[in-house]
Amino acid sequence: MPQALDLHRRPLRNLRLSVTDRCNLRCGYCMPEERYTWLERSELLTFEESAALVSELVPHGVEKVRLTGGEPLLRRDIDQLVRSLRAQGGLRDLALTTNGLRLPDLAAALRDAGLDRLTVSLDTLRADRFLELTRRDELAGALRGLDAAAAAGFTGTKLNVVVMRGANDDELVDMLDFARERDLEVRFIEYMDVGGATRWDMSRVVPATEIIERVGAARGGVTPEDLKRTAAPADRYLTGDGQRFGVIASTTRPFCGSCDRARLTADGQFITCLYARSGTAIAPLLRARGAAAAAERIVDLWTGRTDRGAEERASLDSRAALAGPGELQREPHLEMHTRGG
Ligand code: GTP
Ligand code: 5AD
Ligand code: SF4
Repeated sequence: MPQALDLHRRPLRNLRLSVTDRCNLRCGYCMPEERYTWLERSELLTFEESAALVSELVPHGVEKVRLTGGEPLLRRDIDQLVRSLRAQGGLRDLALTTNGLRLPDLAAALRDAGLDRLTVSLDTLRADRFLELTRRDELAGALRGLDAAAAAGFTGTKLNVVVMRGANDDELVDMLDFARERDLEVRFIEYMDVGGATRWDMSRVVPATEIIERVGAARGGVTPEDLKRTAAPADRYLTGDGQRFGVIASTTRPFCGSCDRARLTADGQFITCLYARSGTAIAPLLRARGAAAAAERIVDLWTGRTDRGAEERASLDSRAALAGPGELQREPHLEMHTRGG
């Protein structure tokens, strides 16, 4: 079967499966509101449905699957989904993005089920700030999660840090030190105007160029590790003292040209761009006609794909949050915690 290509000849390689829209944190850039419209639990794809769909997509080129949320470790028996995805054999990379809080309970089971890699989101190393940024007093829990990941044998764990001016941008070097001690690869992420980032403002974005300059000043310079642009959003660098780190410049230097990612929400909406205004409900077809028919529909949608969401946002003269709270309540599929970061 041929590799599915979109209208800009971008392959469908990377599928982000959001398994729940719930989260046990309330990060200000993702879930700033008090109330949310949640997806109906009864509508969620079962693990059997998700795994069958992935099997049908592998022959069309999907080789990486990342489980996301919300917080994917809130989905009951998530290790069983990992096990079924692994069992079908065709995936080169099976990863999961988490805030880490449930890793003490689940890291060993995830490893045992065949998960390759973990990415842990952590924006600060200070307990008071963690509470301010996430509205939960859980820094210690997140750190225990990182310990549990290492103890379970995960290596190459990445640490996602969303950098916000005036909030945590004075912790760049602390984060690098922390990552070096624990053998993690830190990635500094530009604050993005997506989904629930209703309080986003350009003045709070610390551009990648500034991040690199600041790290260089503290760490004996910075050199780009590889100049070719791959489909990965992170550009990697080496500090003068030999530490690798990544920078994800989605806001100021989008990478739409090489974007190979598709998203499926927990209730089975297929979304072709993080910034897309709408998606396509796949669940009804999957339930009525099976996984092969659903995969065919997904490939059709991919074949017609023209999205360059982040580039379009970057070309706007004045830029504000993508959606307001009212719109997000009417259409929760616009949320980052629904479509999976
Ligand atoms: P790797 O497989 O390790 O390369 O993972 P990743 O970097 O693709 O995934 P991760 O979930 O860690 O995403 C990191 C950050 O990249 C997110 O916080 C977003 O800021 C950004 N990002 C992820 N997907 C997209 C996307 O489709 N478009 C844009 N513009 N940014 C994205
Ligand atoms: N800007 C940048 N990154 C974000 N994430 C969630 N919302 C935003 C935003 N507005 C990140 C999370 C997580 C990743 C999957 O997405 O911190 O690391
Ligand atoms: Fe939860 Fe991740 Fe959103 Fe924070 S960014 S509220 S951890 S889904």
